[in-house]
Amino acid sequence: MRKKVTVVGGGFVGSTTAQRIVDAELADVVLTDVLEGVPAGKALDMLESAPISGVDARATGISTAAGDYSATAGSDVVVITAGFPRKPGMSRDDLLRANYDVMKQVVEQVVKHSPQAVLIVVTNPLDAMAQAAFKLSKLPKNRVIGMAGVLDSARMSSFVAAELGVSVENVHSFVLGGHGDDMVPLPRYSTVAGIPLPDLLPKEKIDAIVERTRKGGAEIVNLLKTGSAYYAPSAAVVEMVKAILKDKKKILPCAAYLEGEYGVKGLFVGVPCKLGAGGIEQIIEIKLTAEEKSALDKSSASVRELVTVLGV
Ligand code: 2OP
Repeated sequence: MRKKVTVVGGGFVGSTTAQRIVDAELADVVLTDVLEGVPAGKALDMLESAPISGVDARATGISTAAGDYSATAGSDVVVITAGFPRKPGMSRDDLLRANYDVMKQVVEQVVKHSPQAVLIVVTNPLDAMAQAAFKLSKLPKNRVIGMAGVLDSARMSSFVAAELGVSVENVHSFVLGGHGDDMVPLPRYSTVAGIPLPDLLPKEKIDAIVERTRKGGAEIVNLLKTGSAYYAPSAAVVEMVKAILKDKKKILPCAAYLEGEYGVKGLFVGVPCKLGAGGIEQIIEIKLTAEEKSALDKSSASVRELVTVLGV
């Protein structure tokens, strides 16, 4: 039987994620949105592209305006991209609360219909929304995962590859912490064909790459003017979905619920995780220098601030 993935939210991130999953023939996809017609239209368009791509994965789209999620039943993975972007005049707390309300409506429904699913949360502010989804779903912690480390690491890798003029396939970057301006890129653990980055680039070049990685999302928002990135975010989600559906045991940086790892308790923060059929099957702890640890603590404190506002 084919695998099934539900993608909640038919915006650019959600629909591009659905399309990538179908194109890779990873699973049948159900795309949902509160809008009428849009998810069905996008899914039909994907379905009609399947004969050209030569894939048998099926896309369907449903409107959840009436609160009916029954078409999502039995999903192996549910990707949640639904949420409001920040609008002028909206405080960070307003966005937090608005998206927490979205999370409340969505999580309860998807878990009711797919109690065995792994949830991947993409809605921002990502780490806080992952924590909200974890608490609202009451799922075991290994089955609620926040995306972002894969995205932030990919951004860093693309900048490193461009700087050195090497294949992106040679570059492995390592970014920990929350998906915010104080995320923690770790040059010491980032390598090019196995060679640590500090052996290949001078400090000022590395610092510039670290800074650009931290502001990677904002750089794209500033260029697009309306909306935010979706090609790299959807590619990141699909790498995680693939690792889970194919039980690859792949180590990827993800937001995971920590219970003492890295000295962090009761909080979602980005760390290296082994992803397989069970979701997060292991959290990998690496040794950090005092400076790296303090950067991770600072990033965790920012996430803690948000979850405290929500009380989750
Ligand atoms: C990004 O980093 C907006 O979180 C999204 O592109």
